[in-house]
Amino acid sequence: MEVLIRDNSDIGCVLGAKIIARVVREKPDAVLGLATGRTPLRLYQELIRQHREEGLDFSRVTTFNLDEYVGLPATHDQSYRYFMRESLFRHINIDQKRTHVPDGTAADLHAECRAYEQKIIDIGGIDIQLLGLGRNGHIGFNEPTGSLRSRTWVKILSEQTLRDNSDVFGSLEKMPRHALTMGIGTILDARRVLLVAFGPAKVRAVEQMVEGPLAGICPGSALQLHPRATVILDENSAAGLHYADHYRWIDRHKLAWQKYD
Ligand code: F6R
Repeated sequence: MEVLIRDNSDIGCVLGAKIIARVVREKPDAVLGLATGRTPLRLYQELIRQHREEGLDFSRVTTFNLDEYVGLPATHDQSYRYFMRESLFRHINIDQKRTHVPDGTAADLHAECRAYEQKIIDIGGIDIQLLGLGRNGHIGFNEPTGSLRSRTWVKILSEQTLRDNSDVFGSLEKMPRHALTMGIGTILDARRVLLVAFGPAKVRAVEQMVEGPLAGICPGSALQLHPRATVILDENSAAGLHYADHYRWIDRHKLAWQKYD
C-alpha cells in the first residue's frame, strides 16, 4: 500500500485528481470507478478545472459508481446519481450513457446487482477505483464484518453510517436503511485503487486500514491485498499512524517515474 501524507485535504485532493487525470490522458477510453461523499468533492472540482482549462477529455471515458441508496430515484437530491450529475458529470464532456450508478429503485435488487457486475466485466474491468473511507472503516457501503470477497450486493447501513450521513437528509428517520454497493471483491478487481481520507474523524479507521490486521471489522484493510493501492491522507487523518515517518521516507526517495508531484 502506497501511503501519501500531505499537509491538508486541498493538496491531497489536487494530487488525487492528478493521478486520475494521468490515467485518462494515458488511456482516453479509461474506465473510472467513482465515489460520492464529502471527501472527493474537491478532487472533482480539480478534474473539472483541468477539463475547462487544460482540455482534459472525458468524451470516451466510462464510469461506474460504488453505490446507491435503495429506494431513491435519480431525481432525489440525496441520491448518488443526482450527486454525481451535480458534482461532476454535468461540468465535463462525459457521455451520460457511459456513466453508471446502481439503480436503487430496481424492482429486483439482486438482479440489478448481478447486472452491474456483468457490465463491469463486459467493459473489461475498472482501471482506477476512487474510494473514500467511512469513520467505521467501510469502503463503498461495505460495513464492518461483511465478506472480504463480496460482489455487488444489497447492504444494511450501520447505525454509525446513518448518523454520519443523516445531516443532509434533515433527520435520521428520513435516511434509507439499505444501499446497493460494489462488494469488496469487486473493488479489489480494479487494476488500481485510490483512497482519500482526511480529517481527525478518520484517524482510527485510517490506522486500522493501513497498519491493522487484514480483518472484516475494518473493510478498508482489504486494500492491503491489492497490488496497486494508493492512500492519500492529510496530517489529521494520518495522526494515528505508527509508521508515518516510514511512509514519508518512502515518498521522498521515489524514483523519478514513481513521483506524482
Ligand atoms: C461513497 C462511499 C462511502 C464514502 C464514505 C466516506 O460513495 O462509498 O464509502 O466514501 O462514507 O464519506 P465522506 O467522504 O462523506 O466522509
